[in-house]
Amino acid sequence: MLSIYRSDLFADRVALVTGGGSGIGLRTAKELALLGARVYICGRDAEKLEAAKRACAAESEPALELHSIVCNIRKPDEVAAMCESIVKEAGRIDLLVNNAGGQFPAPAEKISANGWNAVIDTNLNATFGVSQAVFTHTMKAQGGAIVNVIMDMYSGFPLMAHSGAARAAVDNLTKSLAHEWAEHGIRVNAVAPGVIESSGLETYEPQFRQAVYDMGRYSMANRLGSEAEVAAGILFLLSPGASYITGETLRIDGGSSIYRPHFPPKEHDRLPPFDR
Ligand code: ADE
Repeated sequence: MLSIYRSDLFADRVALVTGGGSGIGLRTAKELALLGARVYICGRDAEKLEAAKRACAAESEPALELHSIVCNIRKPDEVAAMCESIVKEAGRIDLLVNNAGGQFPAPAEKISANGWNAVIDTNLNATFGVSQAVFTHTMKAQGGAIVNVIMDMYSGFPLMAHSGAARAAVDNLTKSLAHEWAEHGIRVNAVAPGVIESSGLETYEPQFRQAVYDMGRYSMANRLGSEAEVAAGILFLLSPGASYITGETLRIDGGSSIYRPHFPPKEHDRLPPFDR
């Protein structure tokens, strides 16, 4: 694995990446470790975390070490216990990546109250809960940087109305926390990825997955983004290179969030002529 960043960028830093067992979270965790951080990944599935650690060690020479903690971020007592154990072991948490999330495709009319609440709980409530716990346990006294991973929901998010609403809320939460915690030396930012070729896509039914792939063409980049491209943005916002940036959401979407066809149309924008 290569990084565009300086190899000691995060030396002596302690990082926590939620949902770090796969996808964008794992790529971010690996790269933080490559650049010198002591990295904790958390998730609900112990075996998945172990597999991520093994894959990370096997991929790199010398072997990169990740630390893992099983934690359901929707459970405040588990979140508190996770923070306590990291602080006991490593002294503090300098860098927090709120990456864990989850949703399921469904038309708004079919989303049950339970389904709605579960998505809001994971993507919004747990992001707040983990941030607040990390603040209380360490960052309030020791400072740090937080990056929330949201998504390109700027035009609404049809078939995932619950997740779009939760991510828009986290965009706003990012700004509130940036205000409130600045005096403690904490910067709070977010990234909003567009359509990313990530292992997260594998959780969807093949037909929906294909539709997501097809969406990748609707950007100036005319392709899907990669996990590495999102990780690069997250690392930048965590780094001293972003020391004057807080309350910001960085769109990493190949321009999809502002995309519309222009004249002359690109090949992938061409439709059959109007039948007048
Ligand atoms: N990833 C998705 N949902 C999660 C949860 N509730 N806890 C930890 N990681 C998660």
